[in-house]
Amino acid sequence: MLWPMKRIFIASRGNPEHMATLFRKELPSHVVTTEQPKTDDGPVPYIVVGRPLPGVIAAVPGLELVLSLNAGIEHLLASGEVPGHLPIVRLVDDGLAEGMCEWVLAQALAWHRNLLVYKDLQARGEWAPCAEKLARERTVTILGAGALGSEVARHFVRFGFKTRSWSRSGRAIEGARSFAGRDKLMDAVSGADILVNLLPMTAETADVVDAKVLAALAKGAFFINGARGGHVVDADLIGALDGGHISGAALDVFRIEPLPAEDTLWRHPKVLLSPHVAAPTHADAAVKEMAENIRRFERGEKLPHIVDRTLGY
Ligand code: NDP
Ligand code: OXD
Repeated sequence: MLWPMKRIFIASRGNPEHMATLFRKELPSHVVTTEQPKTDDGPVPYIVVGRPLPGVIAAVPGLELVLSLNAGIEHLLASGEVPGHLPIVRLVDDGLAEGMCEWVLAQALAWHRNLLVYKDLQARGEWAPCAEKLARERTVTILGAGALGSEVARHFVRFGFKTRSWSRSGRAIEGARSFAGRDKLMDAVSGADILVNLLPMTAETADVVDAKVLAALAKGAFFINGARGGHVVDADLIGALDGGHISGAALDVFRIEPLPAEDTLWRHPKVLLSPHVAAPTHADAAVKEMAENIRRFERGEKLPHIVDRTLGY
């Protein structure tokens, strides 16, 4: 039997109807559904997924391509939900990059210019200027130089920070110093005033921010985590904060989300916490990117940002 119109299943648990409307505008020659397809309805080559419930992907007949609504896809690999032969495309779009740059730079500049210190002083009615530094007197290290890390690094370079980036391959970023591989991790972080984590969650990057890495930073350094909670050994971070070696941390991501009410991080005076909002997916930008990937796929072109299952990102 011939199925003239290709189908797209939006399995997002957020607002699938809104996303379906956007897809219908972008790809009017496709059928877009938000209902779990049945086997006898014919093949559904495309699925759009965030964090699907178990069994959702496997039950789609004739699937050819998995389009992730997230940049991080460790949950899709971990669950074993996506059969090995199916390509998974990570989400890489301007919306995510802009959001992450805004969030990281907001945290970094607030710390760099002592805004929270002044907020406390204001509450006590104290006029007490801090020793203010310029960006060019600070060193920033970004772990991860991918779609997000490289954009964030460019912003730090533009502000004048001495910028370093650390990645697997040592990918070059204009104006920044690049470091490659595990052997160079300590060189990359040594003496940094600000450490930003934008790595993907893989077996190799788990627990990478530990006591050793934190101790190598400059005294009074600031840590910013916009990637995943599993990258950080929480007990080591709390130890470094309590001991005073690290002056503060901005955390958007946690090992368990939502962060359990009893977790120490909620009430830690040196922690600025946000509920995984650094770079939310923006439906307009995401649908444009995913629709373009479907067009590329149908033209038989190579797709960008296909997950390498061996590397885990
Ligand atoms: P990319 O895949 O584009 O970049 C990953 C970077 O990490 C690359 O530079 C890569 O190196 C490097 N890397 C991977 N493994 C290692 C390793 N073992 N050692 C050293 N470097 C390594 O990812 P994105 O920039 O798109 O996203 C990064 C992460 O940000 C996502 O995986 C997700 O977890 C998180 N995120 C968080 C959001 C939030 O709202 N908090 C929103 C969106 C994403 P190389 O360049 O050599 O490949
Ligand atoms: C993502 C995220 O990976 O939202 O896109 O964290």
